[in-house]
Amino acid sequence: MKEESDFKMIAKTIFGLEEILSQELQRLGAKDVEIHNRAVSFKGDKGFMYKANLCLRTALRVLVPFATFKVTDEKSLYNGMQTINWEEYLEVSDTIAIDTVLSTDLFTHSQYISQKAKDAIVDQFRVKFDARPSVDLDKPTIRVSLHIHNDVCTVSLDSSGESLHKRGYRDKTNLAPINEVLAAGLVLLTGWDKRTNFIDPMCGSGTILIEAALIANNIPPGYYREEYGFERWKKFRPFDEELWNTIFDAAVNKITNHEQKILGGEISPNVAKKAKENIKNAKVDDVVSIKNVDMKDFEVPLGRGVVIINPPYGERMVKDNIDALYKMMGDTFKKNFSGYDCWILSSNMEAFKQVGLRPSRKITLFNGQLECRFMKFEMYAGTKKIHKLEGRSGSGERNL
Ligand SMILES: C[S@@+](CC[C@H](N)C(=O)[O-])C[C@H]1O[C@@H](n2cnc3c(N)ncnc32)[C@H](O)[C@@H]1O
Repeated sequence: MKEESDFKMIAKTIFGLEEILSQELQRLGAKDVEIHNRAVSFKGDKGFMYKANLCLRTALRVLVPFATFKVTDEKSLYNGMQTINWEEYLEVSDTIAIDTVLSTDLFTHSQYISQKAKDAIVDQFRVKFDARPSVDLDKPTIRVSLHIHNDVCTVSLDSSGESLHKRGYRDKTNLAPINEVLAAGLVLLTGWDKRTNFIDPMCGSGTILIEAALIANNIPPGYYREEYGFERWKKFRPFDEELWNTIFDAAVNKITNHEQKILGGEISPNVAKKAKENIKNAKVDDVVSIKNVDMKDFEVPLGRGVVIINPPYGERMVKDNIDALYKMMGDTFKKNFSGYDCWILSSNMEAFKQVGLRPSRKITLFNGQLECRFMKFEMYAGTKKIHKLEGRSGSGERNL
């Protein structure tokens, strides 16, 4: 019966998506939801842990904390790890990996701390059983997570295993694919109502379009994944296959058939081809269509909708070209996208100025290590007329 009760979990995410993740958790039925930096904590039972892994679009991992202790130095870390009875979590035959996140002045090298923690675990097994679990950094049976914040070390098991952004539908990538968790977060941040059009006119490998299609059709993001960490748990919250099947079937039964247009454009023929393959892999080719076309020639359906662009940021481009690209985006919004809410994600603040429109929202997000802004430009139907008038009276349109 103990297994059935609620326990604390921590869903990790990308900076800037915490609020969206907490909304996802509330909708799924999580209890005691609290927002932290790049994470949201909550409570639920084992079935909810399965559901969170399967259904959360903006979580990278779901951790289950089970021990905390004070640390002052390496020795206290080793001793703290040894106070845990590791037999309750691992078998000698298991392989382990330890991920460490440091937000403390006490230690500087997370990998070194992972090694020290691993020593404490294997030493305990060696003394008791004269045998030890071995380390497998790529595909361990059990993934242990350490978070040291100031002088408190929290030890968790990682119920996800591989990061949840690895959905399993993308095997063809271009040079700069966006993380699937970030892509889903962008779509959710726009508040797209799933009934109006959705367009990514610089779609690259198609990640944003695929995540939009999953959202529109209520397809759980974990639908394509082959496995999760919790499936390998034998001792701590052991895997309950029947419960997992019930949770999976319930989520799959909620899949709907979305009929609104989800459209992509991409200037490079090779990249457009890869995007089409990814869309097929994700089995959303009935709702998403891609054209190999320059954004300025993209045929925009009449009506309303949401546009998200993750353009090149310009690291590998000369300044004049990147400026011209961002100016083209602004001009094309004005010319062809009236009625649309147009969003751009970029780390290039100078280039943003070339868009020449005033953003109505600016959200700070991280794309990998790059600090970005996700800016919204509302192209009201009739904007064109206003701009024409402004142009005639000589007043500036480019007023970022
Ligand atoms: C940063 S990548 C987008 C990555 C994409 N979000 C993904 O997940 O793969 C930018 C893409 O814009 C495309 N692009 C650049 N200029 C374009 C234009 N004028 N029209 C259409 N696509 C363009 C590039 O070829 C590139 O694939």
